[in-house]
Amino acid sequence: MYVLGIESSCDETAVAIYHTEQGLISHILYSQASTHSEYGGVVPELASRDHIRKLVPLIRQTLHDSGLSSSDINGIAYTAGPGLMGALLVGAATARSLAWTWQIPAIAVHHMEGHLLAPMLEENPPQFPFVALLISGGHTLLIEVSGIGQYRLLGESLDDAAGEAFDKTAKMLGLPYPGGPRLAELAEQGRERFKFPRPMTDRPGLDFSFSGLKTFTLNTINNSEQTQQDKADVAFAFQQAMAETLGIKCKRALQQTGLKTLIVAGGVSANRAIRTSLMNLAHEQGAQVYFPRPEFCTDNGAMIAYAGCQRLLAGQNQNLEIFARPRWPMDELLSL
Ligand code: KG4
Ligand code: ZN
Repeated sequence: MYVLGIESSCDETAVAIYHTEQGLISHILYSQASTHSEYGGVVPELASRDHIRKLVPLIRQTLHDSGLSSSDINGIAYTAGPGLMGALLVGAATARSLAWTWQIPAIAVHHMEGHLLAPMLEENPPQFPFVALLISGGHTLLIEVSGIGQYRLLGESLDDAAGEAFDKTAKMLGLPYPGGPRLAELAEQGRERFKFPRPMTDRPGLDFSFSGLKTFTLNTINNSEQTQQDKADVAFAFQQAMAETLGIKCKRALQQTGLKTLIVAGGVSANRAIRTSLMNLAHEQGAQVYFPRPEFCTDNGAMIAYAGCQRLLAGQNQNLEIFARPRWPMDELLSL
């Protein structure tokens, strides 16, 4: 079965084709970063308009790259939420219309379930059950995963998401949007100098809070001369605080659940310092850690095609409704 995956929840238009036996056939991504960079963040209306312009040509291109025609496609998976309403509607309406025209099923995919399953696209995929740390621009979630759709929330951010904290800190350092990867680059030139707090690690529990870290960072920047080295040292200290805080909570989650497998996904999991820190932690705990390849940490169509494919294979199918939910709690998902 060939499944076409469509991702349009935020500022990336992405399309992929996944095959049940052959795996990932092809994937394409168009980033709107240059459209939004002059505004310092995503402008929802511009995002929707850009998805409208790019989505159908990208679908054509993906079919062409795969050597397939529309009649080969057996199902369509599209991101239905969470995300920006207008952006989601472009993907949902396109997916539903194509499915109706091609007389095939379409399935609404939860964006964070897509991230969660992204490590399954790699050669040595993790086995259920596992602990998942999802760190993206909009979410920071620790979940006990027993199977697809079997999610027990262990902890989440009470304020900013991990990626949001990276982006806001990058902005304070005068770095252009999208800030997370820029901050990581700057941190490479940083030295061990400032000691930032590890929020909410001094009390039990698995929730996160990053807004205090942001304020601490701002004060440190304001109290420095703001030379390039000062900024690099702040970036280094911030990234180290994030890596260690995430590590402490993952260690607790593994201990609490008794599980020996950790998966880490979402845009921030592309961060090298965070990957290294979590690999070391897993090693100490005698656990295995799995990440998607960096390009599948951030938004992509492959993870949506994969997640939708699993649900279609399980016989899940939906009516013709154009389904889009900007907010969509993960525990509402059906288990397979
Ligand atoms: O998963 P994602 O692509 O989109 C959402 O679902 O939100 O995550 C985007 C987030 C952004 O905040 C971005 O700055 C952050 O992931 N990010 C990074 C890195 N690459 C992407 N943060 C830190 N280091 C990186 N290398
Ligand atoms: Zn995402």
